[in-house]
Amino acid sequence: MVFHYGQAIFEGLKAYLSPEKKVLLFRPQKNAERFNLSSERMSIPPIDETFFVHAVQKLVETDKEWIPSQDGSSLYIRPFVIATEPCLGVRPAHEYVFAIILSPVGAYYEEGMNPISILVENEYVRSVRGGTGLAKTAGNYAASLKAQIQASEQSCSQVMWLDAIERKYIEEVGSMNVFFKINGEVVTPQLNGSILEGITRASTIQLLKHWNVPVIERKISIDEIFEASKDGRLEESFGTGTAAVISPVGALHYRGEQIVINQGAVGPLSQKIYDTITGIQYGKIADDFNWTVSC
Ligand SMILES: Cc1ncc(COP(=O)(O)O)c(C=O)c1O
Repeated sequence: MVFHYGQAIFEGLKAYLSPEKKVLLFRPQKNAERFNLSSERMSIPPIDETFFVHAVQKLVETDKEWIPSQDGSSLYIRPFVIATEPCLGVRPAHEYVFAIILSPVGAYYEEGMNPISILVENEYVRSVRGGTGLAKTAGNYAASLKAQIQASEQSCSQVMWLDAIERKYIEEVGSMNVFFKINGEVVTPQLNGSILEGITRASTIQLLKHWNVPVIERKISIDEIFEASKDGRLEESFGTGTAAVISPVGALHYRGEQIVINQGAVGPLSQKIYDTITGIQYGKIADDFNWTVSC
């Protein structure tokens, strides 16, 4: 049934090797919670969250020899559920498979962080309130491919999605949430049912609050960002996600106009968040928030 009616949900997290060769997971409970949020939206039965985390821990422990030890590398973990009932008919399936697959992954940044160029999409939309944008479900990614191809043709590595109704408010970027630093204040789009609630996003907000950096979740229009850039108030922008942790945004292209952010360089706040989160993930700095779980 999954091939026809698309009941497929997944998660993405990583296992990291500490200098003492301890195997660390980053906030796996959050992935378990989001897995069930996705299930609920797709009419898939929920899974026991403690079982989900134990299953991840057990598999990673079994396969720990596959965790690469080079700087910045890790073991990617992909838990998923698919509808496997052999039937045609639009209704929730009666049979599912829950499985976890793993893959070693190299460092996202081989030569340090480098800012990306992003195309702001004004034709296609990723999601709409009431749709499936808040779920990590396969169809959302299929629907995003066309815009992604067009962005690549314009030498942009990612797409920035706008809201589907007014085509005005920023939602997220490719497989990342997005932040802007304007006049000393950090802003990120508020969750509205069509944005995926990233675990790196939540961790970034928590860190900024801990550092007393003003941070606010609200609606942000693309026009506001272009205006802030033109009057020199836009200091930094970055995406957050499991793959890159922090991806600085160097340039935005929208309706034939382009803005360059922080002269296309990595901003100090982006660097600090990146260093702190990756330091915690690899067990190199104190985990004051109890974010890591060992296997
Ligand atoms: C659409 C989308 N938005 C945001 C994110 C970032 O989420 P996280 O920080 O949990 O990796 C992801 C990646 O999982 C994603 O696929």
